[in-house]
Amino acid sequence: QKYDKNSTMENSEEPMTYFRHNGIIFCSQLHKAERLEELKDFNIDPHIPVLITYPKSGTTWMQQIMSLILCNDNDSKKVINLYERAPWMESVRFKLESMDYQILTTHLNYQMVPNCVKNKMFKIIYVTRNPKDVIVSSYHFHEYSRFLEAPKNFQDFLENFVEGNVFFGSWFEHIRDWHSHKDELNILFVAYEDMKNDLQSVVQKVASFLNKKLDEETLESILNQCTFKHMKENPKTNYKSVSDLFNFESGSFYRKGITGDWKNYFLVSQNEWFDAIYQKKMGDFPLKFDNM
Ligand code: A3P
Repeated sequence: QKYDKNSTMENSEEPMTYFRHNGIIFCSQLHKAERLEELKDFNIDPHIPVLITYPKSGTTWMQQIMSLILCNDNDSKKVINLYERAPWMESVRFKLESMDYQILTTHLNYQMVPNCVKNKMFKIIYVTRNPKDVIVSSYHFHEYSRFLEAPKNFQDFLENFVEGNVFFGSWFEHIRDWHSHKDELNILFVAYEDMKNDLQSVVQKVASFLNKKLDEETLESILNQCTFKHMKENPKTNYKSVSDLFNFESGSFYRKGITGDWKNYFLVSQNEWFDAIYQKKMGDFPLKFDNM
């Protein structure tokens, strides 16, 4: 089933790869309209921090950072999979009621998150990433994820991305919308590019946001466990056990982990086209992205 911008798949019971809910594309293998509706009234303990990202912006990396900051020494949580310590609230693969999670993760837009988090009681972290790198990362993600359709080609994927015809909808709307509500929320915006440039400062900033003091030894241990290499090799963070969702012969979750890889994928004409659209949609947006 291809993305279809004219689709009327809303709440469809058909076994399709995708369905639309509130106009946004979701994956049938991971999401159900019913769960998305129930979620609005879901109650979360305000001590649980919420991590919000548009897909492929560095979600897993931030989950690991937050989880390690929240873990005490020898915490038994360290031995369970990261995605169980920080489950996606919208995914039907997680039965939140029976889980002892530390963090709740979501790719949902502002409108669709539980109403209870829309105030200053919750600590929210929103990770941003240069959209061109998000596109390249997502393009590859579509190639090896079993719950997504492999893209026809890069041009086709780029157009779908710009039009918001990809899972979780428009990147532009997602970030604009969350950012527009920042004054009503206790929200920290963290850039993937800053995590690459100076992870130590980001870890310290996140720890202070979460009211956690880190001694030098803990800080060093966290930094070691957050490297690309460590997370790629660590079975608790590398998703290798989730072979029903990913076909690792077609790609790798820990693909490159760098900034600016878009330069290896965008043609000059595609880049000019994207820049013009970006300028129109985001020219006045206060957050800027490195390596655009
Ligand atoms: P690439 O595909 O560009 O390599 P998400 O977790 O939101 O799905 O984002 C996945 C992206 O974050 C992938 O980008 C992945 O390599 C990158 N990533 C994950 N852990 C990382 C780390 N420790 N250091 C740098 N990048 C990391």
